[in-house]
Amino acid sequence: MKIGVGNLLLSISYLIDIAQGRKEHAPKVTYISLQIAKQLQVEKGEIKKIYYASFLHDIGITVSDNNFYASHLDIQLAKKHCLLGYEFVRKLPLDEEISEIIKYHHDFYNGSGAFGYDYRVLPLASQIINLADQIDISMNWSKPYYLQVDDLKEWVGKNKGILFNPFIVDAFLDITDKDKFWLDLYNPQLRQIILGLLPDDEVYFNIQTMLKFSEAIALLIDNKSKFTHLHSQGLSEVVFEIAKIMGLDDETSYKLKIAGYLHDLGKMVVPNEILNKEGKLTKEEFYIIKSHPYYTKLILDQIPVFKGEISNWAGNHHERVNRSGYPEKLGKDELSLLDRVVGICDVYQALIEDRPYRKGLGQKEALSIIYDMVKNELFLEEEFELLKRAVV
Ligand SMILES: [Fe+2]
Ligand SMILES: [Fe+2]
Ligand SMILES: [Fe+2]
Ligand SMILES: [Fe+2]
Repeated sequence: MKIGVGNLLLSISYLIDIAQGRKEHAPKVTYISLQIAKQLQVEKGEIKKIYYASFLHDIGITVSDNNFYASHLDIQLAKKHCLLGYEFVRKLPLDEEISEIIKYHHDFYNGSGAFGYDYRVLPLASQIINLADQIDISMNWSKPYYLQVDDLKEWVGKNKGILFNPFIVDAFLDITDKDKFWLDLYNPQLRQIILGLLPDDEVYFNIQTMLKFSEAIALLIDNKSKFTHLHSQGLSEVVFEIAKIMGLDDETSYKLKIAGYLHDLGKMVVPNEILNKEGKLTKEEFYIIKSHPYYTKLILDQIPVFKGEISNWAGNHHERVNRSGYPEKLGKDELSLLDRVVGICDVYQALIEDRPYRKGLGQKEALSIIYDMVKNELFLEEEFELLKRAVV
């Protein structure tokens, strides 16, 4: 199994953008950064890092749950998400320099940015992403580019040698004269265009590296709420145990474990205050939470080797045999045994964890509640037996 890292990160960046209510920020910043880097004839290896860093540059905002605009305009909030992003990306099995690039993406040429470093020490890649980021925020994408490019060029030019590196500004100004640059940025298929620009010597994860990557993502999701801080990790261990009991081959077992780590990936779009709310949820909040398995499947389907098995095992975890689940109301005939295994383990894991309104249950009590669900045709005996063997 080979997983292209560019595609993987681009897909995840989609969730970061939805979570922040800012359409296509990561792809636009990536595209602009890339074009500047090419104009500057930055060497290939460095361009690859710019790619990966741009996709993830604002992941710290998702962790901190601060507002997108405030995080870009307020220097303290900018510093906070740079640091959180740096700490998270450092845990991913990626080149360490990528996390460094992310750390300094809100620093300016003259040292007036988040960490107060200036051009003498800032990585060139951070300075490129910084300008690209400012461009995306300054543009009004609902207005044609030819009505605003002149003002934008004037603003960037004025800040040449102040906020931005003169060398990078010149490269940017050269590109702005090309209509193709803007037409690509306005194109609703921008993500496809970016995928077409991925370097041919892309980084590929094998299944072991993908496991590590998924575990880091699981921690990020679990830590969104203090009640779920071990949820996806715990779930992945139980499903892995079941894989062993079933005698599945290594590759399938690891895939199932990845599905366990990533089953709640869509929770990245759910604000932390909803996940942590102690009182009753409003109708709107309830529907926002309920949308998470939809996003899990949407994202995993974009990764060719995940489409099918992993995306179904992960994305169907709230579906029930009697069609009372969500988001697709699938039934017995459409749910595979492993779809149901992830679903039943998710319920078990949730029952044994503390929740705002109750303490975590013991193993026996949890199993007896789940057995009632079998009697009510939410699950089948088959997966219940497997769960029991795995946890007793
Ligand atoms: Fe940022
Ligand atoms: Fe940004
Ligand atoms: Fe879930
Ligand atoms: Fe879950």
